[in-house]
Amino acid sequence: MLSREEQQEIEAELTHYPYKRGACIEALKIVQRHRGWVSDESLHDLAPLLEMSVHELDNVATFYNLIFRQPVGEHVILLCDSVSCWLMGYEQIRAQLQQELGIGMGQTTEDGRFTLLPMPCLGDCDHAPALMIDEELHHDLDGEKVTRLLGQYD
Ligand code: FES
Repeated sequence: MLSREEQQEIEAELTHYPYKRGACIEALKIVQRHRGWVSDESLHDLAPLLEMSVHELDNVATFYNLIFRQPVGEHVILLCDSVSCWLMGYEQIRAQLQQELGIGMGQTTEDGRFTLLPMPCLGDCDHAPALMIDEELHHDLDGEKVTRLLGQYD
């Protein structure tokens, strides 16, 4: 069930749209901000508020890379896997992250601290390779910088 805070925040969002479904992304983000991810149960709770079917809402939620449909770690690393980053060393950065974290892409560390996910272009191509940790963008990555970055979250 949605919490009172979630419900209030979603109702406030609904006032900004002529159709309730227009607020669906914001509503999903609100739930994710409170719970870390969007479960099937949350979709069922949200859909009637937005006058959408659960299936429609699930399609939106799975289309947007920044809505997580599975539990994620405390910190989410979004590694850009588009063309400029491929050309500028994506493979080495991916391999290093996987090795230092001991997980593959799409996985979460055993201690629940990090989830590693691929992400299409982060819009920072002239400073490739790039990644985001939570909301923060990091670019011009090399091995040393990646180790330093991970160290900041120890
Ligand atoms: S291709 Fe990686 S930031 Fe654009």
